Amino acid sequence: MDFRLLLIFVLSTHITVFSAEISVFVQTGNSVELCIQTLPEFDDLSWRKEKSEIIVRYTKETKRVKFYSSYKDRVDFNDKTFSLTLKNMQETDSGLYTARASGASDNDIVTYRVSVIDSVEAPVLTVNSSWFSPDPCSFMCKGGNIIISSIFNSSSCSPEEVTSLDNYTLRLNCSGDSIVCNYSNPVSWKTNIKKANELCTANQKRRLAKEASLQLLWLILLLPIFVGLLALVIKKKEGAQQKEQTVYVKLT
Ligand SMILES: *[C@@H]1O[C@H](CO)[C@@H](O)[C@H](O)[C@H]1NC(C)=O
Ligand SMILES: *[C@@H]1O[C@H](CO)[C@@H](O)[C@H](O)[C@H]1NC(C)=O
Ligand SMILES: *[C@@H]1O[C@H](CO)[C@@H](O)[C@H](O)[C@H]1NC(C)=O
Ligand SMILES: *[C@@H]1O[C@H](CO)[C@@H](O)[C@H](O)[C@H]1NC(C)=O
Ligand SMILES: *[C@@H]1O[C@H](CO)[C@@H](O)[C@H](O)[C@H]1NC(C)=O
Repeated sequence: MDFRLLLIFVLSTHITVFSAEISVFVQTGNSVELCIQTLPEFDDLSWRKEKSEIIVRYTKETKRVKFYSSYKDRVDFNDKTFSLTLKNMQETDSGLYTARASGASDNDIVTYRVSVIDSVEAPVLTVNSSWFSPDPCSFMCKGGNIIISSIFNSSSCSPEEVTSLDNYTLRLNCSGDSIVCNYSNPVSWKTNIKKANELCTANQKRRLAKEASLQLLWLILLLPIFVGLLALVIKKKEGAQQKEQTVYVKLT
C-alpha cells in the first residue's frame, strides 16, 4: 500500500517535471513553428538552443530583432506573437529549444524537445516461399527492424500491431482479400497493400513450378534406366528371332 502510494507520487512528480517540456517531431527538411502561449512582463525575450546558444533576441523598448548563430538564414521570428519558425530542419537540429523572458528576473516560458527524423520507408510484404510449407498462404510484413509473420486464412488474418522503443509502428490488417501493412513513425506513414489472391496464387504457382521441376528431375534420373531396360528387351527379342531363324534353316 505504502509502496503503491510512493509509486503514484513518483509518477506524478515525474509527469509534472516533464510536462514543462513539449515534445515535437519534425520530418527532415520540413519547418517547425515554436509558439508561446502565455507571456509575463519582460524587457527582452530570447529563443535559445540547449538553454545557452541564442538564436534570436528581441528587445521590447527598441523593438529590435537580432539573429545569431547557424540558423540565421533559415529562421523566422514573429514580433507580434513571438513565435519562432525554423526551416529546413536537419537531424543535427534536434534538441531543446527554450523561450526565455528577461525582466526583473529570467523566466523560461516554454521548452520544446524537438526531434528531427526521416520519413519511413515503405514496408515490404512477401510470401514465405518454402515449397514444403503446409500453409496455403503464410506471409511476412517487414518495416525497418520490425517483422510480423502471419497466415491469410479464409479471407482474414489476425490483426497485429508492434511498436518499437523509438516510436516506429508496424500494423497488419486484412480486409476482404487485401493484406494491409502500415509502417509509421511520428512524422509519416506508408502502406503496402496486396491482394491476397495475387500473393498466394503466385506462391502456389511457384510451388507447382517447383513440383514440376522435381518431376522433371526424376524423369531425367530414370530415363537411362528406362533406356537400358528397353535395350535389354530388344536384345532378348532379337535373340529369340535368331533362334527361330536357325530352327527354320534346319527344317529346310
Ligand atoms: C516465414 O519465414 C520466416 C523466416 O524466413 C519465419 O521466421 C516465419 O515464422 C515464417 N512465417 C510463417 C507464417 O510461417
Ligand atoms: C482458419 O480459419 C478457420 C475458421 O475461420 C479456423 O478454424 C482455422 O483454425 C484457421 N486455420 C489457421 C491455420 O489459422
Ligand atoms: C515516443 O513518443 C512519446 C510520446 O510522443 C515520447 O514521449 C517519447 O519521447 C518518444 N520516444 C522516442 C524514443 O522518441
Ligand atoms: C482493418 O481494416 C478494416 C477496413 O480498412 C477496418 O474496418 C478494421 O477496423 C480494421 N481492423 C483493425 C483491427 O484495425
Ligand atoms: C497508417 O497508420 C497511420 C498512423 O497510425 C494512420 O494515420 C494512417 O491512417 C494509417 N493508414 C492506413 C491506410 O490505414
